[in-house]
Amino acid sequence: MADPDHGLVIPDGGFWPAPEVPQPNIYPMEWRVETAKLAAIYEKSKATVWNPAGLPWDGLRAEDFSLEQRLGIMYWFSVLANFDASGPAVFARATIHAFEQHEEDPVRKCFFSITRDEMNHEECCQRTIARLWPGGPLNWAPSTALEQAAHNNIGWLYHNGGRYWTGYSKAVGKYSLPVLFTSFMMGEMAASTLFRGMASGTTHPVFSQMFHRIGRDESRHLQICMTILENEWPGLTEEVKGLITRQLRAGFVFLSMILWEPPEGFWELPPYFLPNHRVLMNHARDAGLGVLSYDEQAENWRVAMARVRAIVTRWGIEFPAIPELDIEGVDVSDAINAEDIIPVF
Ligand SMILES: [Fe+2]
Ligand SMILES: [Fe+2]
Repeated sequence: MADPDHGLVIPDGGFWPAPEVPQPNIYPMEWRVETAKLAAIYEKSKATVWNPAGLPWDGLRAEDFSLEQRLGIMYWFSVLANFDASGPAVFARATIHAFEQHEEDPVRKCFFSITRDEMNHEECCQRTIARLWPGGPLNWAPSTALEQAAHNNIGWLYHNGGRYWTGYSKAVGKYSLPVLFTSFMMGEMAASTLFRGMASGTTHPVFSQMFHRIGRDESRHLQICMTILENEWPGLTEEVKGLITRQLRAGFVFLSMILWEPPEGFWELPPYFLPNHRVLMNHARDAGLGVLSYDEQAENWRVAMARVRAIVTRWGIEFPAIPELDIEGVDVSDAINAEDIIPVF
């Protein structure tokens, strides 16, 4: 047999050390595992993966709805897409960031799994809109006043989505991980709350399956964020705690657009946006989509905020005042601007 070491070169004076890789960088490669629970969640996420194309789409027929109801459903999914369809890009960037920061392997993998899930959620927006309102959200010509109102509102919505994306892109490098993850946690808390409510409210079998599955994904995302935060929260400085308090208020302001109604503070909207939004949401409600009433939404949102509040106060982080929901706390309302908005679904 040939000598397998034939050709090996041992330099006189020893091997030359490779240059250090300047950081942040995704190299050198490594698979460090510090949090076994996260690795287990990632395994579970692979085992519970689902395919949006496999939902019984034939059961979602345009002719089963009035024109206004179809428009209402398209409008709701266009609003949802402001959050859920940004998910893949937002978490893809967060995944790259986690690689560059040499986060432990399960953190990177969990972020990748959230990216994967969010792609499914945005596909649900895409497929629903394609079936009920071809060309939606924006690539169609409105002909009635209601259609014009919907088209114009969606345009304004995505104007704000664009501002969010610009801010987020800067925030990824600017904020420390506890701040970023607290924001993500807020988004996942909101998302799991929303889809639990919608799943119980909808009367349509396609939406029922869709919302149950998305809701299950969002609960897992929340579990991922909570597990990471349990590692990150101990030993926070007062300055970081203050930033987190502000982030929680920013999360409320941003996410209320889909969970309830948009408050003052971030949203750049024309004065007719909200009344028209309400009319369109009523059509979606009327179509059996499962959009809860204004009061039910407020109650669910209040309960979700109370859960976040209970979690963060355990770690000595003050909760912001949310006067819109009668929640007392630190007043940070004048400190919120576009760059502060991080949360996603
Ligand atoms: Fe999510
Ligand atoms: Fe999502």
